Amino acid sequence: MKYFIITGTSRGLGEAIAERLISPDHYLFCISRERNNRLLGKSSNIAYFEFDLNDMDQIETLMNDIFISIDRSIAEGIYLINNAAMISPVTFIQSAQVQGITRNLNVNLLAPIILTSVFMRLTNEIPVDRRIVNISSGSAKNLLPGMSLYSAAKAGLDVFTQCVGLEQNQAQVPVGIISIWPGMVDTDLQAEARNQDKTTFPSAEIFGMVKDKGMLTTPEETAQHIIEYLFKQDFEHGAVVDLYDYSK
Ligand SMILES: NC(=O)c1ccc[n+]([C@@H]2O[C@H](COP(=O)([O-])OP(=O)(O)OC[C@H]3O[C@@H](n4cnc5c(N)ncnc54)[C@H](OP(=O)(O)O)[C@@H]3O)[C@@H](O)[C@H]2O)c1
Repeated sequence: MKYFIITGTSRGLGEAIAERLISPDHYLFCISRERNNRLLGKSSNIAYFEFDLNDMDQIETLMNDIFISIDRSIAEGIYLINNAAMISPVTFIQSAQVQGITRNLNVNLLAPIILTSVFMRLTNEIPVDRRIVNISSGSAKNLLPGMSLYSAAKAGLDVFTQCVGLEQNQAQVPVGIISIWPGMVDTDLQAEARNQDKTTFPSAEIFGMVKDKGMLTTPEETAQHIIEYLFKQDFEHGAVVDLYDYSK
């Protein structure tokens, strides 16, 4: 059995990744605030955790609860996909409220870091394939005014991935870890970006143009590429992968 822990599965890319991974040989632990009953209806090999990733102090307990359900005697691989994210607040930084700043960095950066740390600790003694995919974004490099928090969090996630990759290169049985930029995908997150007030976020127009010109990929297509990467033989430690280059 291969076990997958996936965050942000209530919709968008996370839902598509989870759906693609459904198989009798796979067991999925899905995490988001809203429960995805559609997904649950598709397989009995899913456990759903309605959890707010702002709840930093509870992340370790959540992971302990998940690992209780992992049967080590049949485990062939354990995988963590840090996919959950939020784009808001989309605003020039002087207008951001403290709570919005905190929530953005909690969900986009701190939660994946804590999940990674706990995942490594809990799988340390389990001699199976162990991999982590952090879903990042080209926004780590392609900067737009109004998106400083999201970009800073994703850049931080990439640097974290690279550094942990260096650590794992020294490990006897390394955990694979990569960051993936999925490209522009037709999800609620994209809609939120293009529906922002153009007077406070002029780049909303760019997001609208991308949608109008049919330049967005589907969550299903992107999920397929991400899963191909997850199972790649030559899974690189600490790589930051741009799916746009990969799918060309
Ligand atoms: N769409 C794009 O064009 C694009 C481009 C580059 C990178 N990405 C990245 O791709 C990933 C998926 O994005 P998406 O486009 O699919 O976004 P989305 O449609 O907005 O979905 C975001 C997911 O994250 C979950 N989430 C948000 N806040 C959470 C919280 N506090 N606790 C637990 N779960 C939370 C949401 O679930 P709940 O609301 O139910 O909690 C939802 O399932 C993200 O990492 C994003 O940065 C997307």
